[in-house]
Amino acid sequence: MSSLLVLNGPNLNLLGTRQPDVYGRTTLADIEQMCAAHAKALNVSLSFEQSNLEGEMIDHIHAAKGLHDVIILNAGAYTHTSVALMDAISSVELPVIELHLSNVHAREEFRHKSFIAPVALGIICGFGARGYTLAMDAAVNHLEIAR
Ligand code: DQA
Repeated sequence: MSSLLVLNGPNLNLLGTRQPDVYGRTTLADIEQMCAAHAKALNVSLSFEQSNLEGEMIDHIHAAKGLHDVIILNAGAYTHTSVALMDAISSVELPVIELHLSNVHAREEFRHKSFIAPVALGIICGFGARGYTLAMDAAVNHLEIAR
């Protein structure tokens, strides 16, 4: 059975109450439930993690090698700053789907730069919480093509 890791970065634990006009009212626990139900429907296994710490996120990426087949990564603000996350992704050579709830390209200019994009399989942004299940569909589609 294929295995997906959904990894969430800083401040995403506050979804639901954090700037709901930008990120919506769905909590991270709601999103986890949606993803778990979708994993069942897709017949894949799923791990769902969140960390506010860059180093801990890097540890999750390292640990994913040999355990998961695709990483779905909402790195939050680290997307725009972290060479270390980019290097971690390059090091494990696992397909990564970059994900954002908001359309980062329609927001402040500093959010247009992504250190994840050059090492990502693809990017999904702007579809709110629904983006998570879209990313899971994209991950499974990628694994079927690669098989
Ligand atoms: C985000 C977009 C980032 O720019 C921001 O720092 C976040 C959330 C999103 O999901 O839209 O924390 O990744």
